[in-house]
Amino acid sequence: MSKASAPGKVILFGEHAVVYGQPALAVPVTQVQAEVRIDKIFSPGIRINAPNIQLNDKLDSLAASHPLAATVRNTLATLEAGSLSGVAILVRSTIPVASGLGSGAAVSVAIIRALAKHLRKDLTDEQVSQLAFETEKLYHGTPSGIDNTVVTYARPVYFVKGQPIEILRVKKPFTIVIGDTGIPASTKESVRDVRIQRHKNPERYETLFAAIGSITRTAGQLIENGMPESFGPLMDENHALLRNMGVSSPELDNLVEAARKAGALGAKMSGGGRGGNMIALVQPGKAGAVARSLKEAGAVNTIINKVV
Ligand code: PMV
Repeated sequence: MSKASAPGKVILFGEHAVVYGQPALAVPVTQVQAEVRIDKIFSPGIRINAPNIQLNDKLDSLAASHPLAATVRNTLATLEAGSLSGVAILVRSTIPVASGLGSGAAVSVAIIRALAKHLRKDLTDEQVSQLAFETEKLYHGTPSGIDNTVVTYARPVYFVKGQPIEILRVKKPFTIVIGDTGIPASTKESVRDVRIQRHKNPERYETLFAAIGSITRTAGQLIENGMPESFGPLMDENHALLRNMGVSSPELDNLVEAARKAGALGAKMSGGGRGGNMIALVQPGKAGAVARSLKEAGAVNTIINKVV
């Protein structure tokens, strides 16, 4: 039996703008995980069992575009193990899907690492991230690569599309509260809508992206300089820019507002938007109160995450 797991992730700054070359900051969320177990079985072929999505099928019966099947096939090709047979791949995850917490990337990374372990082969983090990126394209269309990167390295990252990974050095830990609207939202659709709007109005969108990029760079410096509590207002600004871009939603705005009223230092939506999760920066002593206020305002789940 071989096992591997991967954490969720949350974007602190820079979503959407990152697709157009601006930097983004993201951190792992270890309270939620994808877990993969590979067992030997007596029947030939490879079986994939993913109870969360009611999948229990032979790999051969799944389409080339099926994200889990594609992950398995691409990994076996990279590991030169095309003839693997007599195994069952069990995929379990506590990361809510389509909520901006990186569930797809985490499942991919856990599958890739479990297969490599099972075959006693080594993959570098870069190879793992690249393989997961191939699957991200099936989920997201034109992903920036931030999800597979932060989930693979399981460290806070300063991410610029197409550039080597930069680990963000968190000089002083800080606490964020994550609130889930409970509304699943397709990142593929919100990324596509932004693309359409940008095509119609390039100047306006380039200005929005540049403003987000500048906020993200400043926030990165504050985190590296040990002044995390000062980036609250930058979250508020980033949220306003995302609203202007048309990717927030009444439910996200409501939770962002509730967090601020409960004493958060700043709050914003996180990820593709239109649903999914929002985040709030809090003083550690306020985390419980902010989480409770988010629940009262309609959040279906909250996570308190200390970023180190
Ligand atoms: O919805 P999530 O958490 O997968 O984040 C998507 C982030 C975007 O910037 C909107 C898209 C991307 O590929 O970076």
